[in-house]
Amino acid sequence: MVDEDKLAKVLLAVRGSSRYASVAERTVRRIATTALTASGGEVGDAVKRTKRGLHEVFGAYLPSVPRYERTLEAIRAARDEQALRDALARAMSSHASTRERLPILSEFYAEVFAHLDRPPRVIADLACGMNPLAVRWMPIDDDVVYLASDIDTRLVAFLDSVLTAMGVAHETAVRDLVGDEDPAPADVTFLLKTVPCVESQRRGRGWELVDAVASPIVVVSFPTKSLGQRSKGMYQTYSAAFIAHAADRAWQTVELEFDNELVYVITKDQIV
Ligand SMILES: C[S@@+](CC[C@H](N)C(=O)[O-])C[C@H]1O[C@@H](n2cnc3c(N)ncnc32)[C@H](O)[C@@H]1O
Repeated sequence: MVDEDKLAKVLLAVRGSSRYASVAERTVRRIATTALTASGGEVGDAVKRTKRGLHEVFGAYLPSVPRYERTLEAIRAARDEQALRDALARAMSSHASTRERLPILSEFYAEVFAHLDRPPRVIADLACGMNPLAVRWMPIDDDVVYLASDIDTRLVAFLDSVLTAMGVAHETAVRDLVGDEDPAPADVTFLLKTVPCVESQRRGRGWELVDAVASPIVVVSFPTKSLGQRSKGMYQTYSAAFIAHAADRAWQTVELEFDNELVYVITKDQIV
């Protein structure tokens, strides 16, 4: 059993830092609980471990707090499609995952959507980062409902405002994929570069999510270069892991390989 007084001290210290102040309390609590156990109850060490843990799963992707207000103003002020896309691209470049995808955004979504067997009405984007801003590059109908979630309240509030500004029907939520209940049903669910990040927090949970999401189509992707741009055999590792996981499931899968990203479009409801 973790000492609640010590845990409260760790939470206070971590959430007092501007970097992690808006990460969901339950996420910080989960990581701090593990850190306190690993540090043998030493509060200072547990604070360091918790910050390191939050850096690995969140801070490393969003290295500084984006200027949400200013970015939102630029998006709202955009007077034509090009100005809007420029403002959205600038916002997406603040998150490592979307920054890597920016040069191939149109091609990426054209390919992914070409492999869906029907146009989706509801799209869920889990552990979404800034990816909901890419909706402008997705070949979708005007009445699509976009469900976006991540663990940071400021990020999620920003996404909510941007989707409202663009007139995209949506629901946003602060959702921890490790501790919270499984996400709502959707026609297509994106789990982009998310399985390894969730696996690092609870082994088995990332892969379990691919099974658990209530979607006939799940788009799962893996990075093939680290944040430092080294490839380190990541294609081999993740493709082998995916093939092993898919082997005893009645899924149809299509593999798409992009510059930094390996994508699988999984159709779960096919009769094989
Ligand atoms: C590798 S990034 C991928 C972002 C986005 N899916 C993309 O590909 O552009 C991982 C994202 O997962 C989020 N995240 C980390 N742990 C999470 C958790 N337990 N539950 C939900 N989201 C989480 C992070 O905040 C980060 O935005």
